[in-house]
Amino acid sequence: MCYNAFLSYPPPNKMRRLVLWEPVFMLDFMSSAGRLAVALDVPSAAEAIELAECLSGKVGVLKVGLELFCAEGPDIVREIQKFAPVFLDLKLHDIPTTVVRALNAVLGLNPLLVNVHALGGLNMMRKASELVKTHRQNGGRTHLLAVTILTSMDKLDLEQLNLMGEPSEMALRLACLAKSAGCDGVVCSAQESASLRTECGAEFLLLTPGIRPKGAETQDQVRVVTPIEALKAGSNWIVVGRPITHAPDPAAAAAAILSEMAGVDPR
Ligand code: C5P
Repeated sequence: MCYNAFLSYPPPNKMRRLVLWEPVFMLDFMSSAGRLAVALDVPSAAEAIELAECLSGKVGVLKVGLELFCAEGPDIVREIQKFAPVFLDLKLHDIPTTVVRALNAVLGLNPLLVNVHALGGLNMMRKASELVKTHRQNGGRTHLLAVTILTSMDKLDLEQLNLMGEPSEMALRLACLAKSAGCDGVVCSAQESASLRTECGAEFLLLTPGIRPKGAETQDQVRVVTPIEALKAGSNWIVVGRPITHAPDPAAAAAAILSEMAGVDPR
């Protein structure tokens, strides 16, 4: 089954409506399913397409990350977009010119979301935001997120980098910087969603990985949150990888998470 993706843009909690068109099918960003992004962290196009096929129509966004993009290149984004809108999670972090040129190369794919590292600094994020805004003015649909502090990092990890303070404080600082640079939102831990929502406002997009259903293994994630807690805290999207993709039946694992999410009003 193939779905053409379409995104129109009123603000998020009123809300940005994500509608996937198919004659008999519609997924809305207001719905739980629309707010679930699944990380296709697999090494080959064949495995990614198999997962995309079985999750298509059941989840709102499919995430193509570094492993898959490095293995398969831009074609895999075109393929996956036949099944759902794509979050192209490249976490670009370089000097402004290089980031802008890399972004320019992938904006032609028109993914729903792309990202850069906020630690790349204000100037880099500003230049990236300008490019993405121009892309939208020309009819594109891509929105730019900045990664704050990885959900695999805790206070000790930050101290080892000589970054003192709580991860949550640093995430808040970086989110404010990203907003002032013109980014559309951030990638953060859902542990920080409530304070970032208050600080950055209703329009600012919050996408939160590090999600683990109750009782699931945390693997290398440290600052984990359950799907329902993330939505209650104000996350627009939750990103789930291994709890779905490593499950014997990924569609059933996604359905179980969706039933956990059902009935939560977006903040
Ligand atoms: O398997 P798991 O649910 O831990 O996957 C989380 C996904 O979200 C991975 O693809 C990872 O790269 C991504 N991610 C993250 N933390 C961030 C940003 C992205 O875990 N801060």
